Amino acid sequence: MVNFSNLLQFLSLQSPLGSDSTNSTLNLAKMGITAYTLPALPYAYDALEPHISAQIMELHHSKHHQAYVTNLNKALEAHVTAVAQGDVAAQIALQQAIKFNGGGHINHSLFWKNLAPAGSDEASLDRASTLVKEIEKTWGSFDQFKAAFSAALLGIQGSGWGWLVREAGNGAGLRIVTTKDQDPVVGGDVPIFGVDMWEHAYYLQYLNGKAAYVENIWNVINWKTAEDRFAGRSEEKTEL
Ligand SMILES: [Fe+2]
Repeated sequence: MVNFSNLLQFLSLQSPLGSDSTNSTLNLAKMGITAYTLPALPYAYDALEPHISAQIMELHHSKHHQAYVTNLNKALEAHVTAVAQGDVAAQIALQQAIKFNGGGHINHSLFWKNLAPAGSDEASLDRASTLVKEIEKTWGSFDQFKAAFSAALLGIQGSGWGWLVREAGNGAGLRIVTTKDQDPVVGGDVPIFGVDMWEHAYYLQYLNGKAAYVENIWNVINWKTAEDRFAGRSEEKTEL
């Protein structure tokens, strides 16, 4: 919740507000708003090799994800200012930046946690017995689900994500969805796991071999995290 008394006090001390974007985190703190920060990876950069290279993981996390966080904080700072100044046009102009960078932050935060080193206990399907039963009920077999999910990933045009979600509502069934660019899963659906299909997620290692990236990603899915999300045991935020 925006603390407007802090904001107005802050505005009175700044001229112009937020002209130095590197101070976004500090500025948001002065407004009484907690800035978003890059979460640490739950494993080392080389932990997903050979399926995802250390070089990709380091760039993806420390550069790409960091950029989403930095630009989200900048956009939020500008938005708070626009609200305080009653500038509706400026608020509207900021919506796309908030959506893109906020979605990028949410999606990558979920992605890191739904990956695990190949061969680890968490990467074993045995850790998702309840989820696998529901998958088999929905798609007939795990292999048929895997084929359908892989086809959905490879069918994404341009940049986007593929997700297994537990639908909102009474039925709460499983569904495969794709989202464009950095659009997150919204509307109450719960992301069970997602796969980043931006070229920055695979190109340095797989070049144009997108199908090989999709085939290998199955070796590093964190089924424990997937089971926890399916069972509603996860405390992760999936929306801003
Ligand atoms: Fe990414």
